[in-house]
Amino acid sequence: LSPTIKLNNGVEIPIIGLGTWQSKPEEVIIAVEYAIKEAGYRHIDCAWAYGNEKEVGEGIRRSGVPRSEIFVTSKLWATRLNDVEGALDESLANLGLDYLDLYLIHWPIHLNPKGNHPNFPTLPNGHRDVVRDWPLRDTWAQLEAVLAKGKVRAIGVSNASERILEEEILPYAKVVPAVDQIELHLYNPQHKFIRYLKSKGIVPQAYSPLGSTGASLLQDEVAVAIAEKHGVAPAAVLLGWQVAKGIVTLPKSVTPERIKANIEGALAAAKKLTAEDIEKLDGVAATGKEVRLIQPPWGVDLGFDNWPVK
Ligand code: A2P
Repeated sequence: LSPTIKLNNGVEIPIIGLGTWQSKPEEVIIAVEYAIKEAGYRHIDCAWAYGNEKEVGEGIRRSGVPRSEIFVTSKLWATRLNDVEGALDESLANLGLDYLDLYLIHWPIHLNPKGNHPNFPTLPNGHRDVVRDWPLRDTWAQLEAVLAKGKVRAIGVSNASERILEEEILPYAKVVPAVDQIELHLYNPQHKFIRYLKSKGIVPQAYSPLGSTGASLLQDEVAVAIAEKHGVAPAAVLLGWQVAKGIVTLPKSVTPERIKANIEGALAAAKKLTAEDIEKLDGVAATGKEVRLIQPPWGVDLGFDNWPVK
């Protein structure tokens, strides 16, 4: 089983979780069941906007492992920032659960519910359809309320930059976010921001740790050389590097062999990587390879350092 780390409220989070973005509903049932029953995952990361919560819930039930042993995250979609409890209830009903372990603000920006993007949007050029009159601190207060009610065990953010945290959340928060789930991988390591998060007691969670479908991280020559040296797969190096640094990593796969290989490989690699290997991997992005893969149109407003939208 994946080791856990403690969140700032004492709740334990398994350091490796199964990602489910872009997992097709019919595939994700099998993937989640397999991950829990056969591969030892105890952490599933999902979101209302992925459109597959019902099937994730079905996979959890089919695994036969007690609910209390599994860490389940979902996320509040950006059209629902003013209706946290309603949106949470919908996710709980989809999943067939009566509480979540972690509930995140999916994007710290309010999208027009009547806009043209019920899910991941296709927007007219340059049109972001952002509602600018909703203060994020009110959403955070609503999250604190569902936490107090016991409907979730921890609350956090996703895609929140230092500016968003410093200006829009932390000054008003009674509860400091437990995590910030952001794009983190070999080519987008965000070292400075990770130091900032850790200094605030916020655990960084990595999405797209293998480069999602957009970057060939698995062929990276530094990662491949280190993998060969230790007799592990390149994916294991990419994930184990994050585990070794205390980053919760969320590799997505719907392929049973990869689901199993990712957790076993990551844990093995985390033990084998030397300080020198980690330093080398830390330096790869700075050799001209830095890239941000996930760039929805509204992201330019979020205040991340490397948001290279033209
Ligand atoms: P699949 O789901 O078909 O197995 P990320 O976690 O960065 O979002 O990356 C997910 C992508 O990487 C998916 O396309 C997934 O494919 C693929 N993938 C997951 N694990 C591995 C692996 N061990 N080796 C190669 N590709 C992988």
